[in-house]
Amino acid sequence: MGKLAITGGEPLRRSPFTQWPMSTKEEADALQDVLTSTKWGGQPFPGKHADAFAKKFAAAHSAKYGQCVNTGTVAIQAALKAIGIRPGDEVIVPAYTWEGTVGPVLLINAVPVFVDVDPGTYCLDAKLIEQAITPKTKAILPVHLGMRFADMDEILRIAKKHNLKVIEDCAHAHGGMWNGKGAGSMGDLGAFSFQSSKLITSGEGGAVITNSLEYLELVQTYINAGRASLTDQFHHRTIGFNYRLGEFQAAVLGPQLDRLPQHAAVREKTIKHFESRLQNIPGIALLPPEPRITRLAPYGYVFKYFANKVNDIPRASFVAALQLEGIPCDGLFYEPVYKSSLFPVDAADFPALSWGREKPLDLRAMYSCPEADRAAYQEAVWFPHQLFLGTTADVDAIADAIGKVLANIEELRGLDHKAIRNQKLGRADRES
Ligand SMILES: Cc1ncc(COP(=O)(O)O)c(C=O)c1O
Repeated sequence: MGKLAITGGEPLRRSPFTQWPMSTKEEADALQDVLTSTKWGGQPFPGKHADAFAKKFAAAHSAKYGQCVNTGTVAIQAALKAIGIRPGDEVIVPAYTWEGTVGPVLLINAVPVFVDVDPGTYCLDAKLIEQAITPKTKAILPVHLGMRFADMDEILRIAKKHNLKVIEDCAHAHGGMWNGKGAGSMGDLGAFSFQSSKLITSGEGGAVITNSLEYLELVQTYINAGRASLTDQFHHRTIGFNYRLGEFQAAVLGPQLDRLPQHAAVREKTIKHFESRLQNIPGIALLPPEPRITRLAPYGYVFKYFANKVNDIPRASFVAALQLEGIPCDGLFYEPVYKSSLFPVDAADFPALSWGREKPLDLRAMYSCPEADRAAYQEAVWFPHQLFLGTTADVDAIADAIGKVLANIEELRGLDHKAIRNQKLGRADRES
């Protein structure tokens, strides 16, 4: 029996951290309002709660227009349709992200082009974008991943130079600001998810924000079964789908948006304290500070683990040991999308992969993105945002647990444990 909980010792933390999602009387009242309203769906369009929320949400991110949709994946799909992505067009995406960033590109028979991530942010590396541009490239789809922004200054510059559209995947960035501008307001459209782990959640849900009335109209038509948009100044007609958000889901979003600045302030304080505790710890490196982020929106707190500085004990063992100490965290949280078991692309289902080629593009085999690999399989350690919504004592517990695991790291050498085996697998493939 060792000192670490994973080898039979006492866990450092037994009490739970802040639970997520959380709700207050405001959410209960809003739900009651829907319940008695007889208007539960998103039709007549727009629903009262969905409409009010979308307007406030857009304004909170310095955008003119907002539209709720039923998932973040659909938000990306609707945004791609709004900017006019057609079958066979190419869209530049980061290699290291959730599969839901890329799925919508394929779904509309466009072609995702993977670009590696910047090791300082784990977001799309703007320096590598231009070499991926071809005559078929129509858009760049950066993700503001974890706790950082993709370099929007560079991405917008490149997009302008090459006449490309930009969709920001802001599934991790609710309330985040870059140079004082809201996440999602800098590109042509921003796409958000309200899935249950996100910084604002309706269980499932999403939103699109934009400064263009025409894009808003296109999104509204597409997600409302092809009907005319509310303003219909541009008279777009398209085959659309029912991707509306229901009113029960919309109702719980408003109160959370009101609480977002307060949550952001708590997180800022606890994260500052956490980072002060993580200075000069061998084996741990913080992501470099980014002064252009003027409000942090950390869906996940992310740092780097360097096994070669910690007696070559792999990240899977370090993370599993931390989990057993009572600290929720993850290592293989994302992987290069094209390597993921959730990306079994069959070219027969996506005809554009074959167009104009002798053999279809083999998305699973044609890319090599070393930084995404390093983040996915060796370095990145993710902590869920709600751990930072409590007290500085909570984050002290995380730092203490890290210290404990590192001080007893040799206990992990050669250890076989289900938590370690699970950490070697992507999230979809783990044993429960
Ligand atoms: C980076 C990223 N993009 C897109 C999505 C898709 O959102 P949803 O799950 O709401 O469809 C998610 C969330 O799950 C995400 O994390």
